[in-house]
Amino acid sequence: MTNSPYLISPSLTQEQLSIEKTVKLGVMASGSGSNFEAIALAINEGKLNAKIEVLIYNNPDAKVKERADRLNIPTVLLNHRDYKTRKALDQAIVEVFQVHGVEWVVMAGWMRIITQELLNAYPQKVINIHPSILPSFKGINAVEQALSARVKVTGCTVHLVDLEVDSGEILIQAVVPILADDTADSLHDRIQIQEHRIIVEGISIALSRNS
Ligand code: GRF
Repeated sequence: MTNSPYLISPSLTQEQLSIEKTVKLGVMASGSGSNFEAIALAINEGKLNAKIEVLIYNNPDAKVKERADRLNIPTVLLNHRDYKTRKALDQAIVEVFQVHGVEWVVMAGWMRIITQELLNAYPQKVINIHPSILPSFKGINAVEQALSARVKVTGCTVHLVDLEVDSGEILIQAVVPILADDTADSLHDRIQIQEHRIIVEGISIALSRNS
């Protein structure tokens, strides 16, 4: 476990965090995919005993697709515009994950609201990352919300997913101070540095408890 002055983390030992077997992950992402890449690199470096079996992305132009190709990770595009309902999209997601033998799901910047379909297939096995210290600043524009609220610190959270948006059990959080001249972009850049660390630690915590 990395020691950082800004990390708020459960005090688990390396032994408690060990994952016995290689866990099959499915990742869902909508955008740039820097968190997706952080997970893939941690796996390649032997920091996480897991394998990303497939990436599902919903936006044909998402940069995450290029990252997956470079990392030789299979991808499936499920464009939400092709599905009449959220439920139908989630049914397709579950089907892809099941074909690939996925055991745990990570939402790494998935910008769609999920339904019970996904949670029924993966109960307590869906992980999300959000750019705030939950339960503050749920939903979209969390970074802008923190700036508008004029709080002095914000950060990021890795949590289990339930049906309520940005809810569910918190696995790990990291705090990021807000500087006087921060813009949404500069603040988000610093939050992402922490995200890339805690997404890996959050996954480790979840898998080592329940893989
Ligand atoms: C992250 O800030 C994450 O917290 C939020 O969406 C962003 C995704 O970033 N849910 P990236 O695509 O992983 O770079």
